[in-house]
Amino acid sequence: FSEFLTDNFNRQHDYLRISVTERCNLRCLYCMPEEGVPLSPKAHLLTTPEIYYISSLFVSQGVTKIRLTGGEPTVRPDIIPLMQQIGSLKSQGLRELALTTNGISLHRKLDSMVEAGLTGLNISLDTLDPFQFQILTRRKGFEAVMKSIDRVLEMNQLGAGLKLKVNCVVMRGINDREIVPFVELGREKDIEVRFIEYMPFDGNKWSERKMLPYQEMVDIIREKYPGLRKVRGHLNDTSKTYEVPGFVGKVGFITSMTHNFCGTCNRLRITGDGNLKVCLFGNSEVSLRDLIRKDNNNEPIDQEAFEAIKQLEMNRQQGLLADDSTPRWSEREAELLNVIG
Ligand code: GTP
Ligand code: 5AD
Ligand code: SF4
Repeated sequence: FSEFLTDNFNRQHDYLRISVTERCNLRCLYCMPEEGVPLSPKAHLLTTPEIYYISSLFVSQGVTKIRLTGGEPTVRPDIIPLMQQIGSLKSQGLRELALTTNGISLHRKLDSMVEAGLTGLNISLDTLDPFQFQILTRRKGFEAVMKSIDRVLEMNQLGAGLKLKVNCVVMRGINDREIVPFVELGREKDIEVRFIEYMPFDGNKWSERKMLPYQEMVDIIREKYPGLRKVRGHLNDTSKTYEVPGFVGKVGFITSMTHNFCGTCNRLRITGDGNLKVCLFGNSEVSLRDLIRKDNNNEPIDQEAFEAIKQLEMNRQQGLLADDSTPRWSEREAELLNVIG
């Protein structure tokens, strides 16, 4: 494994998350104001050849999984050609190409994405009630998201083998009554429904009261399904996985607020404007875009980029969540979570 992608804690970073757009076609209350987020000038954003180039560089150093995030990645006009290019890196060691999406326009693009090499989808959905959906996202589209989920399942029946997870941010008094119905989704469908602890950041109206801790979610599910039991997950998972005996799907919990997972973090992140971040909570970033663009002859950026990446890796922190104080995300971190996933 490349020494460039190994940090001071000996964590090996083989998972790259790339934000391919800052835009989104929804306005989830906890994420974006009605007017959207301030967008970077287009010239600052990475082009498709640049994203491909950066991806190939990381794959050559041992990255085996790439996840595209946003904003909402499907609103990038050339998302399909971009995925085709990244998908071609499978011959060079890339094993997984995944997407985090709100599912609104996914059903229209899914077939081409699978052809391009897509292997997994995390679809965000916080309610199973169309009316509530419109309140939470300030847009219509519940049926479109369900259509996308069904389309993924249909393709899996035809052998596509897509790993499907549904991400549900749980907010007390808002959608906590839907925990059991969400679990029911997995009765006959091979979906992992992941409940996410609601995280605070300036401006998202977070309150301690609205945050439903993992243990409480487990208790709510156990009351209905006493057989709920923990299963072994993968080392680098952000979620803890459970199953309900007899259900095809699984249940997961992302416990960012109550149990951090910094110790096993294997992620690298690229922002829409081409900055590499080794830690969501760290402040150090390096502009890969500037390194690429400085180079007029299109020569590989290798050495300089690798040195910069190595420097970042050496300084990578165990994450803010590593101390036991309640994490309160700053506006910058919130922006990173929501804009780079
Ligand atoms: P896979 O493990 O590939 O399925 O990805 P994921 O679960 O990390 O990705 P996804 O884009 O679905 O993000 C789900 C949630 O994970 C986000 O809402 C965040 O809450 C959380 N998350 C992702 N990365 C980090 C991280 O580095 N730190 C923290 N605290 N939370 C993260
Ligand atoms: N708390 C928890 N999860 C959040 N997400 C966005 N904002 C928050 C928040 N404040 C989730 C989205 C999506 C994932 C990438 O991040 O719902 O599923
Ligand atoms: Fe869009 Fe996701 Fe933010 Fe909702 S949470 S507004 S779907 S980026």
